[in-house]
Amino acid sequence: MARHKVIGVDKVGPGEMIGLSIEGRELLVANVEGKLFAIDGRCSRRCGRLWKGRLNGYFVECPNHGATFDIRDGRAVSSAKSPRTGKAKDLRAYEVIIDDDGVFVAL
Ligand code: FES
Repeated sequence: MARHKVIGVDKVGPGEMIGLSIEGRELLVANVEGKLFAIDGRCSRRCGRLWKGRLNGYFVECPNHGATFDIRDGRAVSSAKSPRTGKAKDLRAYEVIIDDDGVFVAL
């Protein structure tokens, strides 16, 4: 597993999130009460940009159709608001490492 330094995360305050592209993957990094979490940045349904959604505690809601994911482990906790659009699948969660050299995500 390789560590990738993430730039700009120091500007993400509590209750905020950003989208990052690392090694061709889009990630969501969120700050909840001073702790950073990283999961896949695209919704497992139709690729909604989760960092443009709403963060409510440990849960991020997709801006497209409302599927909700737990940012601690990437688990889909609710599907889209329309039953026609199908179920959301769990996303990958990534370890966030903070040391004297900065903030890293392990991919
Ligand atoms: S794209 Fe995320 S709920 Fe539809």
